Amino acid sequence: MTSKEVRNAFLHFFEKRNHAILPSFPLIPQQEAGETNATLFNTAGMQPLIPYLLGKEHPKGKRLASSQKCIRTIDIDEVGDNTHASFFEMLGNWSLGDYFKEESIQWSWEFLTSKDEGLGLDPKRIYVTIFSGGEIDGAQLERDEESYRIWSRIFQSHGLNPEQRIFEKLKDNWWSAGDNSPSGTTTEIFYDLTGELTEGLTQDEFLTFEEEQKLVEVWNNVFMEYVKENGKVIGELPSKNVDTGAGLERILAVIQGVPSIFDTDLFLPLIQLIREESDTISERSARIIADHMKTSFFIFSEGVKPSNTKQGYVLRRLLRKSFREMLRAGIIETLIPKLFEATKEIYDGVYELDGEGIATLPLIQKEWEKYVTILEKGEKRMKAYKDKGKTLTGSDFAYLEQTEGLPLEITLELAERVELPITEGYREEYEKAKEEHRTKSKTAGAGLFKGGLAGDTPKIRALHTATHLMLAGLRKELGDHVYQRGSNITEERTRFDFSHPEKVSREVLDRVEEYVNNAIATDARVYTDVMKKEEAKASGVVGSFWEKYPDEVKVWTIKDEQGNVYSRELCGGPHVEHLSQIAEFGRFRITKESSSSAGVRRIRAVLE
Ligand code: SER
Repeated sequence: MTSKEVRNAFLHFFEKRNHAILPSFPLIPQQEAGETNATLFNTAGMQPLIPYLLGKEHPKGKRLASSQKCIRTIDIDEVGDNTHASFFEMLGNWSLGDYFKEESIQWSWEFLTSKDEGLGLDPKRIYVTIFSGGEIDGAQLERDEESYRIWSRIFQSHGLNPEQRIFEKLKDNWWSAGDNSPSGTTTEIFYDLTGELTEGLTQDEFLTFEEEQKLVEVWNNVFMEYVKENGKVIGELPSKNVDTGAGLERILAVIQGVPSIFDTDLFLPLIQLIREESDTISERSARIIADHMKTSFFIFSEGVKPSNTKQGYVLRRLLRKSFREMLRAGIIETLIPKLFEATKEIYDGVYELDGEGIATLPLIQKEWEKYVTILEKGEKRMKAYKDKGKTLTGSDFAYLEQTEGLPLEITLELAERVELPITEGYREEYEKAKEEHRTKSKTAGAGLFKGGLAGDTPKIRALHTATHLMLAGLRKELGDHVYQRGSNITEERTRFDFSHPEKVSREVLDRVEEYVNNAIATDARVYTDVMKKEEAKASGVVGSFWEKYPDEVKVWTIKDEQGNVYSRELCGGPHVEHLSQIAEFGRFRITKESSSSAGVRRIRAVLE
């Protein structure tokens, strides 16, 4: 069976059992602002149905089924093994206070094993798990005897010993969509990919084979009875619901008798295109490129562009990870449009895929170039280090990640390429440096640390860089007596104290705003230099609290392509790489100017 046949068979099976068939919701959840379950993408078929699982009446009735586009990035590092993909389709059926465990389990079994109406899978290759009972999310719950009885009956009727087929777990057989969500116990259905385990298993064997991916989970039936708030079960739902989810890609691998989801018709055309470009590429790299490009195409198709926040950030990361694999295999970016076309063909007639994905090729090109620039800069730096006889330490990795956007694994590769030595304990040191950075940011949030950043997010970086521009603007308007006296930056605003004896008029503030926004509009770049403190001072770098800095200081310069310098300041970072990363959050606006203490003024400003 092809993917289209399996998808249709599933929907048809449940339509015949009086389920209304829903079209897939978009990948990006249409949630109210501030809703606690807000996620960047739909991660399960049930997610858009949460209000109905909580009790709201659904216009299509109490039995629903769909094939939902999903993106999960939580397992992103697993992508490349046999069973994980970042984009996948979830086949699901739901009962909103209608049928419960009996029909749900029976129908799953029928769909999987029936030759006429379903997939005709071999019952001997099916194993299941049920909820073991125990304490979970603050509730003490019983073992799921009812599911055990139903499964026992089914297995026995096929001459199979339930003891060797039904296993139990606690956490894995409990499901919710987050800390505030309907939740319940589950029964999971597994299939033996090898066809060699037909004698039945012990619980230990089951766990081992699951770990080895010989057994693959194909369906999860959740019996939703509870509601969770802030991670704790707080009560029962108004009705008992069923929420099931079956990963189409995995089911297909099973049906098509192939060892991985990447060998099914949902991936093969992409893998083949990649192999045509490089016949020596590793299996894992080919899979990562195929997966990430497919997912990127779907994200583009919903109108998202690469950026440093939210869905745009996920997109940028996916693109960069596949660029990395492509470059490693000597594949260039001209392959990308071919992969997009092939993706479109795979899903032709299944989901609405407008031309957006294709229309964004220039953007991809820009992303590619940006990435290559980062790599080139990184490589140059490694060479310079090598010339100096340096050994790369964990803090160097953390520093490069923070300031140059070079992730650890790429720095590692670059360092290896120039044969730069690396300290033995670099990993631990790197983690420690990152942890220290986080703690520092927290302290900063409490306003105790110069720089005053309440964390390191793209928005905070943007406001931080904008604050440098604002200081330069203030000095231009008011004079060189203006120095930073304190600052505190959160996601919402920057608060900045500076030396100046009197109130600053609105006209001046307007001109400072204009200075900042004009600079942002040039998309100037942010450069860092490490300099001797005295040298920096002498060359007119703006800075306060010099005494708190070590002998070597970091100087941040904001300069456009024509060489115009908008700001040059001493600072520990972190900042954006170029100013369009500020523009993503809107225009810079000074919202308030007031007195802070004698001779010190305070400004609040936002990006909106
Ligand atoms: N919500 C469950 C899952 O995502 C079943 O649909 O696995």
